Amino acid sequence: MLNIIGIGLNDEKDVSVKGLELIHSSDFIYLENYTSKLKCSLEDLEKFYAKKVILVEREFVEDGKEMIEKAKTQNVSLLIIGDVFSATTHISLYQDALDSKLEINIINNASVLNAIGITGLSLYKFGKTTSISFHDSEVPIKVIKDNRPLHTLCLLDLTPKEDRFMEASEAIARLISQGLDPETKVVVCSQLGSKNPTIIYSQAKDVKPLNKYPQCLIVPGDLHFIEEEFLENFK
Ligand SMILES: C[S@@+](CC[C@H](N)C(=O)[O-])C[C@H]1O[C@@H](n2cnc3c(N)ncnc32)[C@H](O)[C@@H]1O
Repeated sequence: MLNIIGIGLNDEKDVSVKGLELIHSSDFIYLENYTSKLKCSLEDLEKFYAKKVILVEREFVEDGKEMIEKAKTQNVSLLIIGDVFSATTHISLYQDALDSKLEINIINNASVLNAIGITGLSLYKFGKTTSISFHDSEVPIKVIKDNRPLHTLCLLDLTPKEDRFMEASEAIARLISQGLDPETKVVVCSQLGSKNPTIIYSQAKDVKPLNKYPQCLIVPGDLHFIEEEFLENFK
């Protein structure tokens, strides 16, 4: 059996009851270490689950063979920070599990894709999501321009195993160098899903490093007056 379980964005207690039951009945529990960073440690998770948890990188999940092989005879859980399907690699694993005729459980949870609702921006008014990578690319600025008048969520590159996270200020400097008006209003979010997320609404040129991770950046499109009023909370 293969269980792919979203464990939420914050700490060990964000797992659902169904997810926890499946974890308790698992022979092997893997935790991905490349899409986000929890505010608790691996030890906190192991203590709460009363189970050993094996940290795995992108290559292990993308390959998937070890999990699929084990899941033919044993109970295997892959834990995803946030939600299960917020990255394409996990759909490939699901497809491989379907092809192998495994018994599969998918347990959803909150993702950054809906946690951004806390900004007051309507989730229905977002265009295509873009990723700003450590490597230079013109794609994000194009996506932002093409999305207008819709909002754009920019995911910011991260390498948790090296404790390396992109600052929104760094991403903004790149976008400005590629033609974003420095006076564009942006929303910077850090540690969404936690008790004290940081949310800042300001002109792009005024965004400073937060030193708090992970972060994402929103470039709003046209604002409804209710969205505009709510964003005042974050000035
Ligand atoms: C592929 S997305 C998906 C993350 C996660 N698996 C999920 O379901 O939300 C990864 C990007 O989300 C953003 N991110 C992840 N966790 C975050 C958090 N708690 N607060 C703000 N942004 C976050 C970062 O920009 C990161 O590069």
